[in-house]
Amino acid sequence: IKRVTTSSLQSMKQRQEKISMLTAYDYSMARVLDEAGLDILLIGDSAANVFAGYETTLPITLDQMIYHAASVARAAKRAMVVADLPFGTYQGSVNDAYNAAVRMMKESGAHALKLEGGVEVIDNIRKIVQSGIPVCGHLGLTPQSIYQFGDFGVRAKEEAEAEKLKSDALLLQEAGCFAVVLEKIPAQLAAEVSQSLTIPTIGIGAGNGCDGQVLVVNDLLGLTKDFKPKFLRRYLDLYSDISKAASQYVDDVKSGSYPNESEQY
Ligand code: KIV
Ligand code: NA
Repeated sequence: IKRVTTSSLQSMKQRQEKISMLTAYDYSMARVLDEAGLDILLIGDSAANVFAGYETTLPITLDQMIYHAASVARAAKRAMVVADLPFGTYQGSVNDAYNAAVRMMKESGAHALKLEGGVEVIDNIRKIVQSGIPVCGHLGLTPQSIYQFGDFGVRAKEEAEAEKLKSDALLLQEAGCFAVVLEKIPAQLAAEVSQSLTIPTIGIGAGNGCDGQVLVVNDLLGLTKDFKPKFLRRYLDLYSDISKAASQYVDDVKSGSYPNESEQY
């Protein structure tokens, strides 16, 4: 099987083939997703939410992200494996950001990293790219800045923030990023940015004009019960399916019908 690379993503943009990306945090799920044909598996720091149950992505550590990323990397045969650098590991000095990036690459086996932000972190991104590590940018609703935003509402609705986002996107491209995630911004703005960049954009809640789409896999599977933003399409209702299976198991154990004669030695 031929691995998806930064250059295959670039050709996909050129021939207008959309890029498919989902998050993954563990080996078993990553294996299914890889075999289903996902182009990119993202070890999102959304692991802090869906895996660990935190309200924000801020608490997850570099060691925890490395553990998730290594589990996914062991499963992915075709998909490109992109890992988030967590909050606090790349917003300080260039040197600290570089060291965090190198640790993630060496210890997880991921193929690329994703970092949130534009001009504020551009020197750090430049250094990481210059060291040979592919970097994906992330603009719009960047959850590591949630306490600055105040809520998870749509970003860049006003002119000033939209202009900054456009200039950040160009900066990221100039710094050598291979793609940019655009999260929860008006579809019109995302389409404009996608057309102005030569590198692919990957949207989440950013409309149909992006070069690809990404979702949190737990959301798409209907595992996250109460999370129902407008942009989310749920392909399964796993919460109820698993709930039914689990209560059936409880009943079977209680009634003594599990295990039966053919299920024992
Ligand atoms: O952490 C995450 O899941 C992400 C995607 C939603 C883009 O960054
Ligand atoms: Na993330």
